[in-house]
Amino acid sequence: MSELGVVILAAGKGTRLKSRRPKVLHEIGGQALLLHVIAAARTIAATDEIYCVVGHEAERVKAAVEKTGVGFVLQAEQRGTGHALQMVKAEFALSGAVPPKNLLVLSGDVPLIKPSTLQRMIAFHAEQRAAMTILTAVPPDPTGYGRVMRASAGAAEVVGIVEQKDLKPEQLRSPEINSGIYCFETAALFAQLDKLQTNNANGEFYLTDVAALLVVEGRRVVALAGDSVDEVLGANTIAEMMYLDAAMRVEAARRLMAQGVTIFRPETCVIDAQVEVGADTVIEPYVQLLGTTKIGSDCRVRSYSVIQDSTLGDGVLVRNGCVLDDAAVSDGAQLGPYAHLRPGSEIGEGAHLGNFVETKKVRMGKGSKANHLSYLGDAVIGAGVNVGAGAITCNYDGVHKHTTTIGDGVFVGSDSTLVAPVTLGNGAYVAAGSCITEDVPASALALGRSRQVTKPEWVANKRAERETQAKEALNKSLRG
Ligand code: UD1
Ligand code: CA
Repeated sequence: MSELGVVILAAGKGTRLKSRRPKVLHEIGGQALLLHVIAAARTIAATDEIYCVVGHEAERVKAAVEKTGVGFVLQAEQRGTGHALQMVKAEFALSGAVPPKNLLVLSGDVPLIKPSTLQRMIAFHAEQRAAMTILTAVPPDPTGYGRVMRASAGAAEVVGIVEQKDLKPEQLRSPEINSGIYCFETAALFAQLDKLQTNNANGEFYLTDVAALLVVEGRRVVALAGDSVDEVLGANTIAEMMYLDAAMRVEAARRLMAQGVTIFRPETCVIDAQVEVGADTVIEPYVQLLGTTKIGSDCRVRSYSVIQDSTLGDGVLVRNGCVLDDAAVSDGAQLGPYAHLRPGSEIGEGAHLGNFVETKKVRMGKGSKANHLSYLGDAVIGAGVNVGAGAITCNYDGVHKHTTTIGDGVFVGSDSTLVAPVTLGNGAYVAAGSCITEDVPASALALGRSRQVTKPEWVANKRAERETQAKEALNKSLRG
């Protein structure tokens, strides 16, 4: 028998959200609520000891978190949090597996819970020899939450939990809320589950009623206050969720600042929980760092840049308004302003991508530059290449994508179009304004444009001609 298993309640619909998406799949800090809770659970139990109770849109919820490897228990009909645990008990009975000695129950909609608090709670549960330990908080406004009734002020013992809708008038002001996070002695919990009734305001089986049932049996039920109020807050409405999202981003910014990252006006930045940034990097106001983004040391990310799932080396300069998605940028590269790096962009050491340059599936070598107004897609570009203003790769023929290969030290003149598939050999030159449809050998000059024709004095002659015609017309009208 293992010491500890975790059950995460995630079967509810989230009616108060008024959303088609299941509640636990709504995102804060760039990640679904349920994934945050699973991450916390994994810090204290083996993945195969974690069970998510799913029900509303079960398949969709499972698909979204399957990669974590947790187990699932189906609660086909959502008849309350107590009913959810009845399903867990039934699942153990059915499979014949021995349940863990203790069960930590987490709520899929209480995503800010800290591993350290869970550790503290588990230790408290053991030390108190409790059958049930309830994690609590005293928020400024307890409305909506179940209230924990202690045996007396300051006592660890609890006599019961009363849901908001079932509060008696004299209980309305009880300040201590139930976080929906509990530690149970599994056998004690399972022994009470069949006694739960639905004679309450919601007509549901409340897990919270187990507290009073245990007390009646003479078992010990205790409460422990969490470290902070935010970490036990639930996300039942979009507004509550956005509050937690902001709290999580502030936390992410704080974590990075503690590691030596300078973030100006951190409250204006949107930083996802998993983002990593090296020391001495400076993040300017209104920057978004999202997903699995990793940024090295000594970089500067200027305002209004949005960097998603990308990796930046050390000493990279991202000027204002750049958009990066699934890109990799090497040390000392400079981007923008307004560069757009789409998926598969690999930008070499010290390379420059300037104003309004768009890249997609491009490998660009060391020190290469495309400083103005270019589209570079499906291309392999060597080192020391200079792509002139307005030069583009024509990678798409309407049906297929083709590759443009540009060797080391190539110079592509401004406003050239490189019609792929095409290869420019090392050190080749392409004259400005060329349309390149054939391979250019190394060191060759390619001109792919019509010859310039210059007609001397053409404009002056034309003007004189027009003036003569105008005079004649005037004379004619005077005579007539
Ligand atoms: C619950 C607690 C309340 C506590 C609050 C803290 C009960 C009866 N009440 O209320 O005391 O203050 O959490 O956030 O437990 N779920 C299922 N199956 C169901 C119903 C719910 O899996 O049949 C899941 C939900 O998806 C959710 C969690 O359980 O993740 C809590 O359910 P919710 O309806 O949000 O409970 P609250 O009203 O917030
Ligand atoms: Ca809730």
